[in-house]
Amino acid sequence: MTNFRSSFRSSLKLDFTTPSLRNRLRQNLCICTLICTTTLSISNALAHVTSPHAEVFPSEAHWVLVDSQLLQQLKLEVVAIEPQSRVALAKLKGADRVRVAEAAHDRGACGGHEQIQDLSPQATSREAVKWAKEIAFPQLVAGHRRSLETSARTSAGQASPDEAKNVGLPRTPLAVDPRIESLTRQVSEQNIEEQIRFLSGFSNRQHKNTATEQVVIQFRDRLIAQLKALSSGVNPWSFDLIRHQSTPMPSLRLKFEGQTTGQDVVILGGHFDSINQSWMGGQKAPGADDNASGSANLAEIARLIAQAPRLQRDVEIYWYAGEEGGLLGSAEIAKAAQSAKKSVRGVLQLDMSLHPGSGRFKIGSMTDFTDATLRDDLKRINTLYIGAEIIDDQCGYGCSDHASWHRHGFPAVMPTEAKKRDMNKNIHTERDVLSASSDLSHSAMFAKLGLAFALDLSGLERP
Ligand code: BES
Ligand code: ZN
Repeated sequence: MTNFRSSFRSSLKLDFTTPSLRNRLRQNLCICTLICTTTLSISNALAHVTSPHAEVFPSEAHWVLVDSQLLQQLKLEVVAIEPQSRVALAKLKGADRVRVAEAAHDRGACGGHEQIQDLSPQATSREAVKWAKEIAFPQLVAGHRRSLETSARTSAGQASPDEAKNVGLPRTPLAVDPRIESLTRQVSEQNIEEQIRFLSGFSNRQHKNTATEQVVIQFRDRLIAQLKALSSGVNPWSFDLIRHQSTPMPSLRLKFEGQTTGQDVVILGGHFDSINQSWMGGQKAPGADDNASGSANLAEIARLIAQAPRLQRDVEIYWYAGEEGGLLGSAEIAKAAQSAKKSVRGVLQLDMSLHPGSGRFKIGSMTDFTDATLRDDLKRINTLYIGAEIIDDQCGYGCSDHASWHRHGFPAVMPTEAKKRDMNKNIHTERDVLSASSDLSHSAMFAKLGLAFALDLSGLERP
């Protein structure tokens, strides 16, 4: 895919290579600004001319992927449409992006669109449609197609290449493993609350803020101390800071070595950075829900994997940098994994777990930019160990780091706190704090689900 993309770029002679242009696109990417935060109804023209977020909505028209219903509602031109997902390709000026964002917000959704980083504003409609048909639209339906291919092969009595590669390792346990059940019962709401308090106590964790690196380092050192304090542990672990080209903020990785180390890996992750995009918003971005909650869930999962029986596959846990700037850290990590031909059993993204917007013990599961077979695995694991209601939903664009993995050909899932329309409306503002409406038992459910996912897919040594 990387090769295809670079040849695609050169054949179209588009200017993707200018770092300043690339960076500007990345910086301008996040589109949830007015949408999720403004309580005033601002006229589009005023918002466009005077918004301190003109940087986020540049006046120049950009190519975007967007919910086609929003385009129809606003009578904006659809250039191409993917029929299954109803995701459309369009070229929108800044003022129209504000209108799309506001309309999405009225429907209880976030930004409703995603700026396409691979197309310059100068790309023609023909070039854009070619890109959408060859790259973006196939990705949108890839999960669905992969699931059909797997079941077709299975019914013909043949193992899929993935299954063949995993011979000897457990694939789909259909019965409860009491060791996994016992570990999920040890998930502590109090630990999760303490981690969220620690992270949301910093003024912000913005990826462009040079002070954020120190927050990542403090968090790493805190986790090291917590893991070292555990009395026993049979799974060797190590931390790495991962530096990036696209952001000064590093990502953090914790690796647990399994018995088959280096062969096949299970990946869990969530973004560590926060952002304030509110109208006239300042620097305060506590990001308790988005995404101290997912980060805290991962810390609690790490504490329990450190006490688990011997893993078979490696388990890697990532706290990504720069998600709010356009999936920056995870894009680099997934690209490197693809170049290294890394074999990945599954990727689970934890982004927002604190606000039970669709009801307690109801989980939204994004069906776009994810893998249908892995979503079935997630449902099986939920049935065995959690018993929550999983509601299929769509972001409509690559709304979190799972999309980076999906785009690089790895199977990913993204369970989140609620259906998108019911998500926490205070994210990206200084009001995203632990509050009376935060539900730690809801959040703990995601730590249990992520833990069971990691242990089930890694496989535990036979007792
Ligand atoms: N936490 C959100 C994504 C999200 C949205 C999760 C809805 C669950 C439900 C994430 O941090 C975010 O803000 N994403 C951006 C897009 C990203 C590419 C910058 C968004 O949704 O606008
Ligand atoms: Zn966010």
